[in-house]
Amino acid sequence: MFALIKTMCHPKEFFKPGFRRMTGSKMILLWVVLLLFSAMCKADEGDDVDPCDEASFECPKPNGNFADPCECRRFFICNSYVPTKILCPARLLWDDRKKECTYANEAECGPVEVEEIDEEKEKIEEAPKCDPELCQLPYCLCSKNGDDPPMDPESIPQFILLMIDGAVNTNNFDYYESLLNNTDQAEEKRLKATFFIQNEYCNYYMVERLYTEGHEIALSSVTGENLQRANVSVWRNEFSSLRDILVKFSNVSPEDILGVRAPRLKPGYNEQYQALIEEGFIWDSSVSTLALDPPVWPYTLDYKIPHDCRVKSCPTKSFPGLWELPLNSHFVGDDTGGQCPFVDQCVFSFQSSDDVFGWLKEDFLRHYETNRSPYLLSLHTNWFLTKSQDEGLHKFVDWARTQDDVFFVTATEFLLWLTDENLGQGSKTSYKTPPLLTERKLSCNTPNSCELPHTESNGVESLRYMKTCRDCPQVYPWLKDLGEQN
Ligand SMILES: *[C@@H]1O[C@H](CO)[C@@H](O)[C@H](O)[C@H]1NC(C)=O
Ligand SMILES: *[C@@H]1O[C@H](CO)[C@@H](O)[C@H](O)[C@H]1NC(C)=O
Repeated sequence: MFALIKTMCHPKEFFKPGFRRMTGSKMILLWVVLLLFSAMCKADEGDDVDPCDEASFECPKPNGNFADPCECRRFFICNSYVPTKILCPARLLWDDRKKECTYANEAECGPVEVEEIDEEKEKIEEAPKCDPELCQLPYCLCSKNGDDPPMDPESIPQFILLMIDGAVNTNNFDYYESLLNNTDQAEEKRLKATFFIQNEYCNYYMVERLYTEGHEIALSSVTGENLQRANVSVWRNEFSSLRDILVKFSNVSPEDILGVRAPRLKPGYNEQYQALIEEGFIWDSSVSTLALDPPVWPYTLDYKIPHDCRVKSCPTKSFPGLWELPLNSHFVGDDTGGQCPFVDQCVFSFQSSDDVFGWLKEDFLRHYETNRSPYLLSLHTNWFLTKSQDEGLHKFVDWARTQDDVFFVTATEFLLWLTDENLGQGSKTSYKTPPLLTERKLSCNTPNSCELPHTESNGVESLRYMKTCRDCPQVYPWLKDLGEQN
């Protein structure tokens, strides 16, 4: 365990080697921090490197200027981790916070360690590698390369998770209803999908309809902005505001809003996941993979992510019990169409609906015939704008639902199966899609059409339109503190 020992030192002693203090760790350099006219020292034990020896100075970062830990007048210029020793002009000392030579009475001597300490902490808090002995269902799932199924694939039903991102509105609602047409289906073979709602231009009445038809309502964001570098409070505000909006204007029960996907599929480092924990979510689906065969299985974030991240802002810390449903990149053997986490990002120009069907089927079989990792079929409205793609997807869905061990479920229904205490006791064909919940009832047939003032991010005043069974609010719903006036 990394412990920071700070020792106040007399300035004279500061230049003497040998007041090394003992803490537990191996790799930590000896740093001496002189505060005002006293020195605060923290040091390590175990190695016998003399920190005052120029040859043993290690650049804490590849480039930049850094204090000499032993001599306040000296500093090092690091260039690709190669240090060059420099002396401040006479009567000046190196101030490591200001990064300049300054008058002795103003200088803060010694290395200022703020960032490096943070980095050390990050490293220590990094999630460990998967330990299959400790990681057991129903609370934990991991495997060395992420692609081990939790049981014999022969007994795993093949789940398809249809996932649709973006605002639901008149541009796309009919496509969705037509694809998810359950008119002639037996209850236990219903098609269920998961919608990641974005607030802007969303029709909340249509969301309520999808919800009452048994689909899962999950979150993208209110603003639709790239939140990759946002802090925990920004992430929390986006998710909690959107959840409140959906509860209020789509009549969705807050207990049913359990998962999220980062806008633009850009995970937000550890901050996003911290926000998910603090807001009580149970799953995330923001992490995408490169082209993998076999595909990875969903996992909990107790352990280090077992695959390369397509977008490099994956979480690195441990978030025990939080489920990740990664987007395996879609691809086929000869790479026609390319590789894409959202199928609408692959390229199918000049292809017929049968070609598109064949492509989806080949991509799907990589799951079906190997480890039976759930097949996440993620897409945006764009997909449907090309007729051959729309039709090809219909063909794929029609084909898949004729397979007696293939089921279209929501993300949460999949997790309920995976974490069931009787997991593995049924056969791969005995699964039944959970029935519709009778308490989910459409709260009106004729929604209110609301014309609402909205201030754009550039300050321009505009009008937005929204439909909901509820009373119209006074302003367009947005991040917290707005849209609450009704
Ligand atoms: C669903 O399918 C039925 C026939 O099976 C059809 O009559 C109906 O119009 C379809 N609904 C939609 C929304 O496509
Ligand atoms: C988070 O970021 C926002 C926007 O950049 C900023 O206004 C806010 O002060 C930050 N909050 C914290 C706790 O750092």
